[in-house]
Order: sequence, then structure tokens, then C-alpha cells
Amino acid sequence: MSLPPEPPLEGAPLPPQAGPAESAQSALSAPSAEAAGAAGAAGAADDRHPPAGAWLAQARGALARAELGPLAREVGRVERAADGIAMVAGLPQARLDELLRFDGDRYGLALTLDADRIGAVLLDDDGSVGAGCRVSATGEVVSVPVGPALLGRVVDPLGRPLDGLPPPECAQRLPIERAAPAIVERDLVSQPLATGILLVDALFPIGLGQRELILGDRATGKTSIALDAIVNQKDSGLICIYAAVGQRAGAVERAIETVRAQGAAGRCIFVVASAAAAPGLQWIAPFAAFSMGEYFRDRGEHVLVVIDDLSQHAATHRELALLTRQPPGREAYPGDIFYLHARLLERAAKLSPALGGGSLTALPIAQTEAGDLSAYIPTNLISITDGQLVMSSELFAANQRPAVDIGLSVSRVGGKAQPAALRQVSGRLRLDYAQFQELEMFTRFGGLTDARVKARIVRGERTRALLRQPRFAALAPLSQVALLAALAAGAFDGLPVEDVGRLRARLPAWLQAHGAALPDGGPLGAEAEASLAEAVRACLRGMAQESARGTAQAAAQAATQAAAQDTAHEAAHASEASGTATATAAEPAPQRAPGSPP
Ligand SMILES: Nc1ncnc2c1ncn2[C@@H]1O[C@H](COP(=O)(O)OP(=O)(O)OP(=O)(O)O)[C@@H](O)[C@H]1O
Ligand SMILES: [Mg+2]
Repeated sequence: MSLPPEPPLEGAPLPPQAGPAESAQSALSAPSAEAAGAAGAAGAADDRHPPAGAWLAQARGALARAELGPLAREVGRVERAADGIAMVAGLPQARLDELLRFDGDRYGLALTLDADRIGAVLLDDDGSVGAGCRVSATGEVVSVPVGPALLGRVVDPLGRPLDGLPPPECAQRLPIERAAPAIVERDLVSQPLATGILLVDALFPIGLGQRELILGDRATGKTSIALDAIVNQKDSGLICIYAAVGQRAGAVERAIETVRAQGAAGRCIFVVASAAAAPGLQWIAPFAAFSMGEYFRDRGEHVLVVIDDLSQHAATHRELALLTRQPPGREAYPGDIFYLHARLLERAAKLSPALGGGSLTALPIAQTEAGDLSAYIPTNLISITDGQLVMSSELFAANQRPAVDIGLSVSRVGGKAQPAALRQVSGRLRLDYAQFQELEMFTRFGGLTDARVKARIVRGERTRALLRQPRFAALAPLSQVALLAALAAGAFDGLPVEDVGRLRARLPAWLQAHGAALPDGGPLGAEAEASLAEAVRACLRGMAQESARGTAQAAAQAATQAAAQDTAHEAAHASEASGTATATAAEPAPQRAPGSPP
């Protein structure tokens, strides 16, 4: 409460009061008049402290102006609390998604509203909220701190630190539920997001603002693809947010350590609600991650958000819905599960230049059971997103990594954003590779007679070896274009399959050393394509010479070693012989016992 600018004179009669303030005022006025007089005289001598009388008069004036009156506040009561849910009675004015405050400064979120009670999800499930606890509505929705202070940090979905450092100092908060940009506020997806993974960048390109689902069974490399994409943004300036929902704490720790070890954590935010976190925290985690990303998107920056994973999120939503008695639908998920994920992913967008041209790209991950893409959550997510990378457990078991199933994967909008040169050299790759896979199946048991079929199989095997890429071995667009141009030109056809991987690892440094470059933005001319293929051939020749030199050296070394060994052997023999002779001469002949055998 601020004090009035001009206090009334000391001892002046107070203005008449109305309402409940009056009694408080009259109770104050009787003793204060005398005290004010006495203190006023003493206090006048000291300039630093206003006289007590003046202060009292000021306070009286302020009190007179204060609007005092009864304050009605709804206080509800927890009927029962368990499994991260509290059923609350007595808050008829509470609204959906409103933040509720429980005794002991614990918070929850109004998830369902019934006629006589509210199903609230607890955001701090430490067991302190129980039946009989008092609850009040805050009139606010859940919000998270946002800002650059979050970069490089590991936080929970409410922005509280999990990395042992002080809380991030963010000046602003954003609600976790925000409206998706409207159509007029959006722009077309036109800029590429390079993952550095040849298979993804060439066949299923991702554009800034796109939503590409990563879908697959357990342990098929889903997280690895997303983390590779994050690590590859180390020098691109993109801001990356990795939201772990319902993952094992060990797996999350590994993921964070991986990004840190690759030196890419500086522009990353890790939002962690692991499997042990309260279901409420897991539920809000993807929304919180999007809000943190939208802060940067709205300032014209480009953001990549990885949600690992949305099937766990769906399972949490189902658990909460069943506990709050919502009617179960297909696979026991509540009816609003599609809407939940659609309104989340719809927030990924490329904004129009008028709004700064920022973007938010989403890479949601979802897990399938036994490769069943037609289950409820996978089909929902496939229809919400702009494409999917389907991971195959068979390919993973066959050591083909990344184990992306080329036939089932698709990128619907990223093709427009793909660099022209890469689009040019990867044009027929998908079709050729699919045909090779079919041919390979047919010819597995029979002999190969047709030369054309044989050539296709040879090319296909090299393509497969080329698309096999270890983790954190990102390829720049130049190397990708050169490799694909050389593949199309048949440069690898005479190469043993094992050497393709060696070449892929070797080529980037070679191209850099020889000053190769891509034309700016536009497509490759036939000449440039041929010269890139020739550069790859030259690199191959260099490798062959090196290995020939290596073989010759190894042979020479082996020969030298063999000769040295022979010499040593001979010397040993000679010394052995002379040693024996010496020993024979030096040592007295053993005395044979009479009658013993010689
Ligand atoms: N390109 C690759 N090269 C080599 N190893 C890889 C590659 N991709 C993934 N892996 C390995 O495969 C294993 C499983 O990967 P990852 O954890 O990413 O799978 P996931 O599908 O996310 O698993 P989960 O279902 O448990 O979350 C990891 O040990 C990872 O190192
Ligand atoms: Mg994973």
C-alpha cells in the first residue's frame, strides 16, 4: 500500500469512515492523538526520521482511503489423493487447466471438471497432499520461465534446476498451453534443417518448421537419430530442446552426457520428467518444452524440439484419465488423446517474415510394439505430423544403422527445403534402392545370370553400405552431394563393400584439403556433378595408393622382420652349438655309476 502524497495535519479530525474500516479507525484514533503530540515534538529535531505524529497521521490517512471489506475466497477440500491425482470438492468456480494451490505450497492442475468435484493432477507428488487438505484456485494457468538463461541447463518442466546449479534467472514466463500460429502467421517450409545423416538429408529431408515423427520398436536407434540431429546443430546456431518424458533416468543421463561430450550442449535446453517424476510433470513436459522454444521462435530464431517420447506421454495421459474416471475409448485411451497431441504439434511452425521468420521444428518420437504402425497412438501421430522416419528392428539386428525403413518412411514437406544440389543427386536413389531390395530378395536363393540384374545388385549393395553411418559422423552437404554423385556415376561399383565406409569417413577431409565447394544454392551443372564424382575417384585412388604403399611397407617390414628373425635364429643356433661345446668342454662328464645304462 503506498502512502498518500500530502498527509493531513497532526491531530486533525479524520474523515468520516464507512463500512468495516470505521471500527478499525476509531480504535486507532483515541490513543494515537496523545502519542502523536509527544512524539511529534521529539521527532521534529531529527531530519532523517519524520516525526512520529506525522507518520501516524499518514498511516491514518492511508487507512482511511483503504477499501476494506469482506473478501470471499473459495476454499476447497481434497477428498482423496493417490497416484498423483487429487479429487477436490468445493471449488465450483475453478476452470479447466487452472493452477490449484494446496496446503504447504503444493500445486496441481485442474484436469477434469465434474458437477461436484475436480480431478486435479499434482505437480509435486511428494505425498504431502492428502485427504482433508485445503485447496484454493489461483486464477492462473501453469506457466514456465523462459529466456536465454535456460540455455545449457537441465531443468524440470516447471523450470526448476536439476543440474545442481542455481535456478535460471528468467525475466519472463509463458503459459504452457499457447495457441498455435494461425495460417496467415505462417510461412512455407523452405529452409533445410541438416541432420548430417546422409539417409535422412538425402531421402527424407527435414525443413525448418516441419514435424517429423521418429517411430520404431524399442532400442532401434530412435533417440540416436534425434541426438545426432541435435549435435549437428553445434555450429548452425539453432537452439535445441530435448524433452525427456517418462524415460529411464539412466537413459536421460546418457543422452545429456552424449550431447555434452560432443560439445553441443551450450545452445541446448534439457527438459526432464523421467519415469520417476510425478505424472503431472510428465504430462506438462512437452507443452513446457514447446513454450520454452516459442520464446526463441517469436524472436526470429530457429528452434528444434525433440520429444522423447510421445507414446509415454500418451500412456501418462491415459493413466491420469482412468484415475479421474474419464470414459476410456480405443486401447483405453480417453477420447481427447488425438486433440492433446494435435494441439501440441500444431505449435511447430515456420513464422512469416512479418513475425520475424523464426521457426520451431518438432521431432516427436513414438514407440511401437512389434512394428505395429497401425496401433492407435502411432496412427494418430502419423496423421498429425508431416512425415515419419520408421525404424526397423530387422535392419537394426542386421547391423544396418541408422535402421530407417526406406519403404515406410516419408517426409511430406521437407523436399521443398532440400538444397537443390542434394535433391538433384538423390532424385532416383529411393526408387533404385527399393528395386534393389526386391531384386535381392528374389535372387537370394537363385544364381544370377542377367548382367543387368547383377549390376543393380552390385550398385544396391554399395548404396546400402553408403547409407550405413555411425553415430556422430555427420556429413556436410558437400560430402553428401559428392558421395551420391560418385555413386550415380558408378565410382563405387568396383570397390569392395567394406571400403565404402572407409571412403565416407575419409572424404570430408580430402574435399576440404582440395578446396572443393558446392555452387551457391542452385542445382549442380552436369560438369560440376562430374567433377565431384571425379574428386571422389581421386580420393579413392589416393586410398588405394596408400593401402598399396601400406601393403608394400608391411611386406617390407615383414621381410625385414623375417630376415632379422632368421639371423637371430641362426645366431642362437650358433651360440647354442658353441655353448653346448663349451659346456661340454667345461663341465666334467657326469660320472656314471658302475652298472648304470649309458
Ligand atoms: N547409427 C548408429 N551407429 C551405431 N550405433 C547406433 C546407431 N544408432 C543407434 N545405435 C546404438 O543403438 C542403441 C540403441 O539406440 P537408442 O537408445 O537410440 O534406441 P531407442 O530406440 O531410442 O531405444 P529406447 O526404445 O530404449 O528408447 C544404442 O546403444 C546406440 O548407441
Ligand atoms: Mg530412446
